[in-house]
Amino acid sequence: MSVNTNCAETNSTLGGLYSAHIETVTTRYDYALEQAGASHAVIFSGNPRVSFLDDYEMPFRPNPHFVAWLPLVHLPFSYIVYAQGEKPLLVYYQPRDYWHVVPGAPSGYWTDHFDIRIVHSLQDIAAHLPVDREKCILIGEIIDAATAFGIERVNPAKAVDILHYARGEKTEYEIAAMRAASRRSVKGHLSAETAFRNGSSEFDIHRAYCKAVSHTDPELPYGNIVALNQHGAVLHYTDRDREPPVEMLSLLIDAGAQIYGYASDITRTYSHGDQQFQALIDRMEVMQKEIVSEVVAGADYRELHLNTHRKLAAVLVDAELASGAADALLESGVTSAFFPHGLGHLLGLQVHDVGGFMENESGTIIDPPSGHPFLRLTRVLEENMVLTIEPGLYVIDMLLEKLRGTPAEGQVNWKTVDWLRPFGGIRIEDNVRVLINAQENLTRDAFAFVEA
Ligand code: GLY
Ligand code: MN
Ligand code: MN
Repeated sequence: MSVNTNCAETNSTLGGLYSAHIETVTTRYDYALEQAGASHAVIFSGNPRVSFLDDYEMPFRPNPHFVAWLPLVHLPFSYIVYAQGEKPLLVYYQPRDYWHVVPGAPSGYWTDHFDIRIVHSLQDIAAHLPVDREKCILIGEIIDAATAFGIERVNPAKAVDILHYARGEKTEYEIAAMRAASRRSVKGHLSAETAFRNGSSEFDIHRAYCKAVSHTDPELPYGNIVALNQHGAVLHYTDRDREPPVEMLSLLIDAGAQIYGYASDITRTYSHGDQQFQALIDRMEVMQKEIVSEVVAGADYRELHLNTHRKLAAVLVDAELASGAADALLESGVTSAFFPHGLGHLLGLQVHDVGGFMENESGTIIDPPSGHPFLRLTRVLEENMVLTIEPGLYVIDMLLEKLRGTPAEGQVNWKTVDWLRPFGGIRIEDNVRVLINAQENLTRDAFAFVEA
């Protein structure tokens, strides 16, 4: 297994929850098949991509629909075949290959739930697929037509919309995997903070993180953002300076981990000693926790996002970065210049998980509020969704300069902006499970657990 979970306790917890999970997945597929008018779903694990003009494979990213069935994140060219009322069949591709490590014998808590057929050659796969390909739908990415084995209905919208909408709600198994992913990530965050306090470079902080979570770079759910000082203002900063800056001011680290494909996505910001910057981080943290407390079933995430802008306006005024009433600062674009991304997104097998814009299983889209095009979650929250809450505040000159010559120019305190610029920015990101009148904060629980 390429993802070294190394944790018998996690496997035992997941094993206990797996039966109920697979029951939910099959129920979803029963309905999707019925609506799509098909007898069988064939779910393809994926086809590794190869570098242009070379034969080097890029890191394999499995089809999340495949991983939703079973905890195998590194099994290319394999297929699950499912028909209502039948035990799912797994065509398990184990090539005879002396160049690479090949998948070992199937093992783990999932194996009893599948009729497993091991094949050693691609030519042997077709014999295990349903004979009547016209009655099949194929779910997965087809790069090479041969991997569809003559199935013409690839990712039909009717079935895919149903599956994506359903994936918004996580099973207990999935939530347990994400809890474990959060704990894994938190170990990395604590090591990264120590490396930062010791004056390490971005490169070395990243290495400390990866060592603590025991992930190679390709195993990370997304490229770590390890940003010292002004780099924190680059929202997706993925360079890694090899040398520390002359003066260490701040660290913004946005880094996750995974357990069998289920991700965590956590951001923390630290001050290297500057009290004024620390006070601003503390103020942002109070605000972030307030927003997390509003994550309950029935809340409209678009409203949470707009509310965050109102709260951020108050933070900007308190910090003397801006002046004026909250509504005026929203209206003039001041809050959007300091906080230009969405409040968060659904989280699961994908870091930006599917279904964030879906009003229903038919694929009706809920647009983000006008003026907020980067919001990736627009749904009304339901119990057992898992999402991020990640407000930010940055000095991004490209955006702030656009305020010049508009009514917003006079609302911004440019001297305080000059003070904040070298620190880059602040983002605090937690992973939160929606409950009926409450929420489970996977991230803060993980910090409490790991630090205890
Ligand atoms: N790490 C990417 C994000 O926070 O959405
Ligand atoms: Mn993040
Ligand atoms: Mn995120």
